[in-house]
Amino acid sequence: MFQFSDSIKLIKNIKTTGTIAPSSKVLIKDLLRPIDFESTRCIVELGPGNGCVTAALLGRMHPECQLICLELNDEFAAQLGNIVDPRLHVYNACATSIRKILDENKLDLVDHVVSSLPLSIIDDATVNQILATVRANLRPGGGFQQFQYSLANYGDMKPLFSNVKLRFTLRNMPPAFVYDCVK
Ligand SMILES: C[S@@+](CC[C@H](N)C(=O)[O-])C[C@H]1O[C@@H](n2cnc3c(N)ncnc32)[C@H](O)[C@@H]1O
Repeated sequence: MFQFSDSIKLIKNIKTTGTIAPSSKVLIKDLLRPIDFESTRCIVELGPGNGCVTAALLGRMHPECQLICLELNDEFAAQLGNIVDPRLHVYNACATSIRKILDENKLDLVDHVVSSLPLSIIDDATVNQILATVRANLRPGGGFQQFQYSLANYGDMKPLFSNVKLRFTLRNMPPAFVYDCVK
């Protein structure tokens, strides 16, 4: 799955990707650990990039589960559009437009939001808007899975979710914190 050209795209767009390499398999496994794939029927993915998390989700999702991906970068969005899977819906859009896109798909609240967004390099107003819309569009008890290379946004998440658990993995470049938030 990992291709050198994906890293080139990440580096070329570092101001919006915030990284130079796709996430490791260990980080992705840890990020998705809280998801019960047997019962989950709708997932939103924010910042899918080259699709390394997307592929892991599709590999484990129930046949009736829908995956809605919002990716700001048009090259990555086009690349993801080449994945043939009827459960996958890719949008070249900002993470702030979750509600509009769920409406277009006639979907109500979702079970999980999985995010690789580089929150620490996105301006505060947009981060607040993204986190508010994530919370508003999760079903009660639904989960928000996010990773970050620092704890810069821990304080933004604590007041929004009933429970925020933190894990840390060294086996990624760079090492990453994983937030496991429950609405
Ligand atoms: C750190 S990369 C993650 C890529 C991949 N999911 C991974 O884990 O390796 C962050 C991705 O978020 C996208 N992104 C940044 N800001 C965004 C926004 N406001 N809305 C949607 N996607 C955004 C970037 O274009 C980039 O593809």
